[in-house]
Amino acid sequence: MRLQNKVAVVTGAASGMGKAIAILYAKEGAKVVVSDLNLEGANTTVEEIKSQGGEAFAIKTNVASQEDIDTLIDTTVSTFGTVDILVNNAGIMDNFEPAGDIEDDKWERIFAINTTSVMRSTRKVMPIFLAKQKGVIVNIASAGGLNGARAGATYTASKHAVVGFTKNTGFMYAPQGVRCNAIAPGGVETNINSSMTSINEYGIGRTQAGMALSPRFGKPEEIAQVALFLASDESSFVNGTVITADSGWTSY
Ligand SMILES: NC(=O)c1ccc[n+]([C@@H]2O[C@H](COP(=O)([O-])OP(=O)(O)OC[C@H]3O[C@@H](n4cnc5c(N)ncnc54)[C@H](O)[C@@H]3O)[C@@H](O)[C@H]2O)c1
Repeated sequence: MRLQNKVAVVTGAASGMGKAIAILYAKEGAKVVVSDLNLEGANTTVEEIKSQGGEAFAIKTNVASQEDIDTLIDTTVSTFGTVDILVNNAGIMDNFEPAGDIEDDKWERIFAINTTSVMRSTRKVMPIFLAKQKGVIVNIASAGGLNGARAGATYTASKHAVVGFTKNTGFMYAPQGVRCNAIAPGGVETNINSSMTSINEYGIGRTQAGMALSPRFGKPEEIAQVALFLASDESSFVNGTVITADSGWTSY
């Protein structure tokens, strides 16, 4: 078991990659905190973990809320004693809007969920990690965090910011035994399309040429394997970087 006795917090764990990560971490011996805005879905993930003999609890968290992030980490510590692994996975898409079509409230909402939440949860767990001189953060960025047109301008900027934050955090806290890495998935079969409301025809049209180069869609379980590697001591020398998992889409 690669995560025996570790305590892992996974945000957005009611669906898609977060769910697959929570289930795999529990199989590998971690006690998992299944956090999501969708409590019903989070409870379903917990039931699945428990039916396989794992340990987990669900908690409703809106990652865009500082108060909810504080409650998430405080409840984890009061229930499981500590935090060893933080997976910042919760995220939403934009509607492929180019710069000229961005609306302020949508920009702010996407940044609050995709980006500011990553900073706030990292800031909140850091005293715990520093006290132990050990801790792991795995951020789910995106191929859109490395390239210019895998989504609209807002999502692209929000994930580029996550990549920069990941690198800075990994470097800053390396002497204290804290590692921070990101995964940049290509297209993965999840429910993320449900976060899109009204697609920008011009924007999605511009991205299509590149979309056609994707060899295939990934499965959430394939991303979970990368997240397991990054959370385990097997990746002890991997820090402040981004692992792309996209079947070669971005290598063209
Ligand atoms: N699916 C893809 O093709 C793809 C590609 C690259 C990166 N990503 C990233 O992967 C991550 C996971 O997405 P997914 O594809 O599994 O999508 P998903 O929609 O299946 O799962 C996302 C989960 O996040 C939760 N969530 C949404 N807003 C939230 C909030 N404010 N607070 C807490 N939870 C919230 C949702 O309820 C859902 O359970 C996201 O950060 C996404 O940007 C997805």
